[in-house]
Amino acid sequence: MSKQSLVWIGKWTFILAAAGSAVGLGNIWGFPYKAGTNGGGAFVLIYLFCILIIGLPIMMAEIMIGRSSQKSPVNAMRLSAEKSDQSPSWRFVGWGGLISGLLILSFYSVLAGICLDYIFISGTDSGGMSTTEKFASQTASVSKLLFWHTAFILMNIIIIGAGVVSGIERIVRLLMPMLFVLMIVMVVNSIINGDFARGLSFLFAPNFSDVTPATFLSAMGQAFFSLSLGMGSIMCYGAYMPKDENVFNTSLTVCGLDTLIAIMAGLAIFPIIFAYGLEPDAGPSLVFISLLSVFWDMPFGNFIGPVFFILLSVAALSSSISLLEPSVAFLSEEKIFSRKSASIILGLIAWFLGIGSLLSFNLWSEVNIIGDLNFLNSMDFLANQFLMPLGGMFVAIFAGWFLSTKIIKEELEPGQKKIFIVWRFFIKFISPTLVALIFINQLFFS
Ligand code: TRP
Repeated sequence: MSKQSLVWIGKWTFILAAAGSAVGLGNIWGFPYKAGTNGGGAFVLIYLFCILIIGLPIMMAEIMIGRSSQKSPVNAMRLSAEKSDQSPSWRFVGWGGLISGLLILSFYSVLAGICLDYIFISGTDSGGMSTTEKFASQTASVSKLLFWHTAFILMNIIIIGAGVVSGIERIVRLLMPMLFVLMIVMVVNSIINGDFARGLSFLFAPNFSDVTPATFLSAMGQAFFSLSLGMGSIMCYGAYMPKDENVFNTSLTVCGLDTLIAIMAGLAIFPIIFAYGLEPDAGPSLVFISLLSVFWDMPFGNFIGPVFFILLSVAALSSSISLLEPSVAFLSEEKIFSRKSASIILGLIAWFLGIGSLLSFNLWSEVNIIGDLNFLNSMDFLANQFLMPLGGMFVAIFAGWFLSTKIIKEELEPGQKKIFIVWRFFIKFISPTLVALIFINQLFFS
């Protein structure tokens, strides 16, 4: 076994960092609103199914590719292809990842900025405004959005610039326990102040009459995004994973934590939404408009509201750093720039692109880029519905059909023969086919 160049120090760090990447706006903002608009329980069930049969195998594949080469995604794909006697052009999968990581970061940061802003908004009184008016006035202000977007990108630059161990490792060890505690506070609040039984049955009693093909697609896309798959985040973190950690167990833990947090987010939100007579199907504005009105009404809402938005911001930050890391790792590994300069330059690129998304809320709301989508939705479409499923599908095809069995066996630890057989079957046949299905459907029928 070769000596690894750069590794996480703590035994739990890979799990914390990968769970940090996975648990983000996708879990706490996206999952509840999608479950809310797709009929609750049935969506949740399909989502769990997707996590297990598509997410878990692809996550294992990304970790194996990353760890066996100990390089950032572009070089990890190239090296593992070369070691498997395949063409080095497989590195294009890594390139796709770097580009989509920056695209996602650009609009993710604008959304995360709004969450930061809402820490303060939910802590103060309404001043006679409705929450709909408040959201409209916040997002109409270019300077406010720009301020928070800039603040959020800066935090990313500082953390990533500080390095893998003194930046990422240090921050996830702080943020992840914090996230968990805040989440527990939110769920307890919902048990005390919410209609918990109704929230539970909404999330867990599946009503299959609500299920359409679109529910499937939405749940699969959500599972993919939530696990940070298809663009190198997990591959990149896998490169720093110590050789003696077990790929299957850690992947299972990360998938489990990601799902747990998404469900807890549902349990934190829906019971209080129901208790205050609101509807669960508000869509993307669920937390900014519906939930905020609860916080403004509820006893101690001026305290619980900020707790919720701090939670959202913490989750967003531990995810966004994993969007910046692959490209920064690449530039510094190639010795094109130092890590610090690379984080500043790439952070600035994401910041600049983000301005387009930020203007989509106001000045450019009518400016369409792709079809009838504004800038923000175009970025989202390009990354989430195009580059990411494509990346995930190629990772699955590569790992299932081209990656050498020797590498796989080394990575999976000897003695895990059953896991090898089952994983191999899923990654060869099931995962790529299902991803291809989502992909084709989203592209042509949505
Ligand atoms: N998984 C994160 C979320 O749920 C977002 C994210 C971080 C991501 N890194 C990613 C999504 C890589 C896709 C690919 O919010």
